[in-house]
Amino acid sequence: MGPDELGWVRGEIDLTRANPARMYDYFLGGTQNFPVDRELADAAIALRPELPRAARLNRAFLGRAVRYAVDLGLRQFLDLGSGIPTEANVHEVAHAADRRCRIAYVDAEPVAVAHSHRLLAGHPRVSVTQADLRDVSTVLAADGVRAQLDFSQPIALLLVAVLHFLPDEDEPAEVVRRYAERLAPGSLVAISHVTTDNLPPEWRSVAGLYQRSATPIHPRPKADVLAMFGELPLVPPGLVDAVDWLPDRGQPALAVSGFYAGAARKP
Ligand SMILES: C[S@@+](CC[C@H](N)C(=O)[O-])C[C@H]1O[C@@H](n2cnc3c(N)ncnc32)[C@H](O)[C@@H]1O
Repeated sequence: MGPDELGWVRGEIDLTRANPARMYDYFLGGTQNFPVDRELADAAIALRPELPRAARLNRAFLGRAVRYAVDLGLRQFLDLGSGIPTEANVHEVAHAADRRCRIAYVDAEPVAVAHSHRLLAGHPRVSVTQADLRDVSTVLAADGVRAQLDFSQPIALLLVAVLHFLPDEDEPAEVVRRYAERLAPGSLVAISHVTTDNLPPEWRSVAGLYQRSATPIHPRPKADVLAMFGELPLVPPGLVDAVDWLPDRGQPALAVSGFYAGAARKP
C-alpha cells in the first residue's frame, strides 16, 4: 500500500507533523511515509549520515532476538511498537524457523496498523492491534492479542526501538514490569533503546529534531535502559550496543549503532 492508497485511515493520519514510525520506514528504505516525514528524516540524516544504517542495525537485532527466542523453544511473540512492515518482519523470521509460531503485533500509529492489516489479511497465526502500549490492560485484553497468545506458556515480548518514545513521566520501566509480571516462566523480554552514550555530540541535535515530530524521542543512558529489565536476569552478552548483541558473521560494520540492545529471561 502506498501513501496514496491509505483509504479509511486517511482521516486518522496527522500530515502536519512528521511521525517517527514513518521516518523509521524512510530510514529503512520503505514507501509508507509522507513529505513531512521525509523532510525531518533528511534533516536528521544531514546531522548523522549513518542513521539509516543504524536503523538497519537495530532491525537486524530484532531478527536475531526472534531467532534466539525460537532457538529457546518459544513459539509466541508479542511485538509492541511493531512499526510499519518492512523486510524481515517478526512473523517472517519466526515462520522461517517454525510455521506454528504465533505473533501479535501492536502499534499506535494508523499507517503502521493499516499496512500491517493489509499485508497480513487472512493470515491465521498473526494479528495486528492498534493500541498504545502504555495502556497495558487494554493491550492484554485486545482480541488480536488474546486470539494469538496463551499467557500460560512462554512468550517473547519484543520492545524494540519503542521505549525511547515514552518520557520518564510514563515510567517505561514500570510499563515493562506490568507486562513482564503477566508472562510465564521461560518468557523472554527483548529491548532496544536509543542512547547518546558513546556517540558524538551531533546525536543530541538529532534527538532535538525529533521534538518537532509527533512523538519526541528520549535517549537514555545505560543504567536507565538496564532498569527497564527490572529483576529479570539478562542473557549473555547483557545490555550492549545492538551491533554487539550476538552478531551474525558478515553483518555490515558500524562501530556503534546508538541503540542499546539486550534480552532477559523470566526464571
Ligand atoms: C522506530 S519504530 C520500531 C519498529 C520495530 N519495532 C523495529 O524495531 O524495527 C517505533 C514504533 O513504535 C510505535 N510506538 C511509539 N510509541 C508507541 C506507543 N506508546 N504504543 C504503541 N506503539 C508505539 C511507533 O508508532 C513506531 O511504529
